[in-house]
Amino acid sequence: MNIVVLISGHGSNLQAMIDADIPIQAVISNQADAVGLTRAQQAGIPTHTIEHDIYDSRATFDAALQACTDTYQPDLVVLAGFMRILTSDFVQHFNGKLINIHPSLLPKYRGCHTHRRALEAGDTIHGATVHYVTETLDGGPIISQASLDIHQNETEASLKARIQRIEHQLYPQTIELIRCGRVQWAQDRVVFDGKCLASNGIMLNL
Ligand code: GRF
Repeated sequence: MNIVVLISGHGSNLQAMIDADIPIQAVISNQADAVGLTRAQQAGIPTHTIEHDIYDSRATFDAALQACTDTYQPDLVVLAGFMRILTSDFVQHFNGKLINIHPSLLPKYRGCHTHRRALEAGDTIHGATVHYVTETLDGGPIISQASLDIHQNETEASLKARIQRIEHQLYPQTIELIRCGRVQWAQDRVVFDGKCLASNGIMLNL
């Protein structure tokens, strides 16, 4: 399975995939100074930088990103902290092959500041979700989730750090399930071991 990872920054999820020995054909960043590029280079993975701000529109940037990604004939395109909203053309081109990790128990808290919003709402549980990407932001079919209990004196920073530790297990484990064929895309559903999953996906106990 050919895997291409798209990043914008720190790349700690990319590092978790590298550490889990997931074979990655290429890493592409829209930011030249992304720390994740160095992580990939240190692991011997080819890297590319396609800076969004030199393109005159989202469409032309996405076309360049798509062309670069396509050179690796990917079976799976993994968004790992990729901070650009993708056009419908891009999403449709990689339909069923594009996945993302989001720091909340979707469908709760789509978008930004998920940890702050969970704390402000007085939630006792928070988590992370891996999902297929569709044109609805953070709204595609859910593959897997993992959760944790929010501590009484939790801060936004401590919660973010604890969720990231969960992500670093959840994302590689989910990619392995896709790689070995146990998880499959079935349009608006996810199939796991031959059966359609419930809407909140596989709950992994990490
Ligand atoms: C992760 O927390 C992920 O949930 C979100 O972006 C962050 C990326 O972190 N989509 P990193 O670049 O992998 O360290």
